[in-house]
Formats: sequence, structure tokens, C-alpha cells
Amino acid sequence: MSNQAKPISSPEEVVGVGAPLAELEGGFAEPAAARARPIPRISIQAFCENGATAEIIQIAAEDRRLAKAHVSVHMGGVEAAVTHYQQNPTPNLIIIECGLPRDHLLAELDRLAENCDPGTKVLIVGQANDVMLYRELLKRGVSEYLVEPVAPLQLMEAVSNLYNNPETEPVGHVYAFIGAKGGVGSSTICHNASWSLSEILKVDVVIADLDLAFGTTGLDFNQDPMQGIADALSSPDRLDEVLLDRLLTKCSEHLSIFAAPVVLDRDYDISVEGCDRVIDVVRQNVPYVAVDLPHTWTPWVKSVLLQADEVIITAAPDLANLRNAKNIVDLLQQTRRNDSKPRLVMNMVNMPKRPEISVKEFESAIGLKAISVIDFDSETFGQAANNGQMIEELSAKARSAAAFRDIALAMSNRRDTQAVKKSSGLVPFLEKLKLKR
Ligand SMILES: Nc1ncnc2c1ncn2[C@@H]1O[C@H](COP(=O)(O)OP(=O)(O)OP(=O)(O)O)[C@@H](O)[C@H]1O
Ligand SMILES: [Mg+2]
Repeated sequence: MSNQAKPISSPEEVVGVGAPLAELEGGFAEPAAARARPIPRISIQAFCENGATAEIIQIAAEDRRLAKAHVSVHMGGVEAAVTHYQQNPTPNLIIIECGLPRDHLLAELDRLAENCDPGTKVLIVGQANDVMLYRELLKRGVSEYLVEPVAPLQLMEAVSNLYNNPETEPVGHVYAFIGAKGGVGSSTICHNASWSLSEILKVDVVIADLDLAFGTTGLDFNQDPMQGIADALSSPDRLDEVLLDRLLTKCSEHLSIFAAPVVLDRDYDISVEGCDRVIDVVRQNVPYVAVDLPHTWTPWVKSVLLQADEVIITAAPDLANLRNAKNIVDLLQQTRRNDSKPRLVMNMVNMPKRPEISVKEFESAIGLKAISVIDFDSETFGQAANNGQMIEELSAKARSAAAFRDIALAMSNRRDTQAVKKSSGLVPFLEKLKLKR
């Protein structure tokens, strides 16, 4: 029974208290329910008995996954709901917290049903962990019953499952890549890590290049497509699976790019809604979407950062990078209370003759441990960029190639690179064993 899952009592528990510091700060652990699908444009009204539950619903209401929904929270439990809906139309979803004894609760729900529109769903939050009660509630048309205490992510997942099929894989995971300063290598990291992800996991990855005027995704993959992301952004409502397929450029078996036009003869007016819609269509069709953001600050850049499943900040070790990275981290942590922390990649470290802030100092100043530290290596990076190749294609032995594999593993939340490597080494033996049997 889906509601019998162990209740998650705090966001800390979700990210795994007791995990090694590196995992927590570097973001190797992912909240289990962080992949809850975004919740559609529905109206939700909650009637709580306790202030603590009202607060949890309020926290969920402010989360990015509920950004499209309209949520209002009232007190008074099921009795207040019954009175309210005698006078008012019912919303898409009613959440009721109820600690009443079983018979009393069922009687109140029968009264509520008299005024409920047929399309309205009801989710009950109660104290009794009782299968009989659960069955009785389902029989009466209640959609879900959660046992207290309920955490914001658990509630969001339950609501999300009411509007999506919980059996199918959640929609694609969106990674937003941004540089703390211009030219620090954010696009290079985005392209190489996404390519490694597609090669290691053998899953489809799309890179969406939102640097429409100057993006390098086409160049880095040695492609010069005629169409791409600007065509989608100019009429986002027309974008569907078929058009998306036409606008993507395939670079390898599992990696496609949504390339930027990189021409200056037009103006690019990207709207928050258009951008949101385009990313939504891509994520409905592809399991991993890497968004390559330009180093600018516009409403749509901010919105992509706040809505992404995960954010990867690339920074070089100087003061301006430190200040900007700190500002981005602070903004994300204020507004994304139920998400894992952004991930930090330190790039262009140890540039000859350049005075630098040490990685340790940088990490402690912004409160994040870097998931990867990549040296300045103009020869390898310059060569790869000129060839239109990924670093691993150019030189699998390069230290940065290993770094990109690690970033890809961190992105996919594979905890242990070694374990993956070891198990893949065993595959041929296991296959032989299977054949022998
Ligand atoms: N570790 C590195 N060592 C040397 N050169 C690097 C390194 N990482 C990236 N580069 C080079 O730095 C240049 C800028 O990289 P890139 O375009 O990825 O930066 P960006 O942060 O996306 O820039 P923009 O602000 O224009 O979006 C490229 O020529 C790239 O090859
Ligand atoms: Mg860039």
C-alpha cells in the first residue's frame, strides 16, 4: 500500500544524516522523493488541525514542484471543510488533517461528499496506521491516506502521484549549469559531463544551449545544425514530441543537442513561461536534460536555476568567482529548502603564475565541498575545443577525463565510482557464469 511507506520526518532525514560530510556537502546523496514530478496547475485547499501540519503544507506550497499549483491552507480540520464547501465550490484537491476516531471521521467524510464536485480528489492526513481504515477511506473515494508525521517531500510525492502514474519513471531530471563568472568553463563542464553521463549510463541525454547568441554546444560537438532551440523558444506552444525530434541534433548514440542559433541578426526575447514550457517538453521525452546557461542574470535564467532538479556551479579560484558563487548558493538555499545543495566544480585551478584562493578556503567560504577540482590545462582543453571533441575522446587518460566521469557519476547519484568500475569489470565473468549454467 503506497501510503504505508516509512514516514520521512525531516528534510535532514531525506538527505541522510550520518552520511560522510563529503557526500552531504558535495551533494552525492539525493533525496529519494526529489524526483517527484512537478505538480500541474491545480487548486489545492488544505484544512488542518495542527499548526505544525499547516506549516508543512505551507513549506510544500512554496516548493518549486508546486510552483504552478494554487494552495491555500485553513485550520479547523474536516468540520471546517464540511462547512466551507456547503457555501463554496470544491477545488481539484482537498487535503484534510483529521485525528477524529474512525466512525466520526467516516461520518464527516460522508457529509463532505454531499458537496464535493465529481472531479475533486481528497487526501487525508491522519494518525491511525490502520489498514482497515485505509480500505474504508478508499471505498468512499478518498484518493490517498498519509500517516502522520508527514514531511513536505512525502506530501509532494503523494500529490504528484495523484496526477501522474507512480508506476512509470518520473519525468527527466534537469541539471542547470552556470558559471560564477563569464568564461570559467561552465559550458565545457556541462558538455563533457553530459557526454560522460550518456556514455556511462547508456541513457539519453539532451544538452539545451540557452546561450542563444554565443553558445558553443554546436562547436564543441562539431555540429552546425540549421534548426535548434531558438525555433522552439519562438513558439513554445507548438513544441511537441515530433517537433522536438526534428529540432534536436544527434551527436552520439545517447547524446543530442538542442543547439543555439549563434547569429546576431535577430533579438532573442526569451520569456520565463516559454523557457519553462520548452524545458518541460524536453524533460517529458528525455531522462536527463543538461541546460547550459549563459553568465547573465535575467528573469528566465533565475527561473531555470530555481526550477532545475539540480544546479552545478562552475567557478575559478578568484575573488569575483567566490563572491558570485556565494550569492548564487545563498539565493538557491533560501528558495529551495527541500532540495539538495547546488554542486560546485572548481575549474582552471593551478594556472601558472596566477595568485589563487585555495580550494579549501573557497569551499569553506561558500559552505560547499567541490564535487570536482579541475586543473588549468590549456593544451588539452584547447585541443579538444579546436577539434570539436570531448576531452575523453581526445585523451581518455587525461586527468580531466576522469574528473568528468566523476561529475557524471555525482550527477546520476551513483555513490561510488570504484564500485561501478569494479562491477563493470566483473560483467564478462558473470555473463560467462550465466552461460555455463
Ligand atoms: N580547465 C581548463 N583549462 C584550460 N582551459 C579551459 C579549462 N576549462 C575550460 N577551458 C577553456 O576556457 C574557454 C571558456 O570555456 P567555456 O566556454 O566553457 O566557459 P563558459 O563559462 O561557458 O563561458 P561563457 O561565460 O562564455 O558562457 C574555452 O576555450 C575552454 O576550452
Ligand atoms: Mg558558456
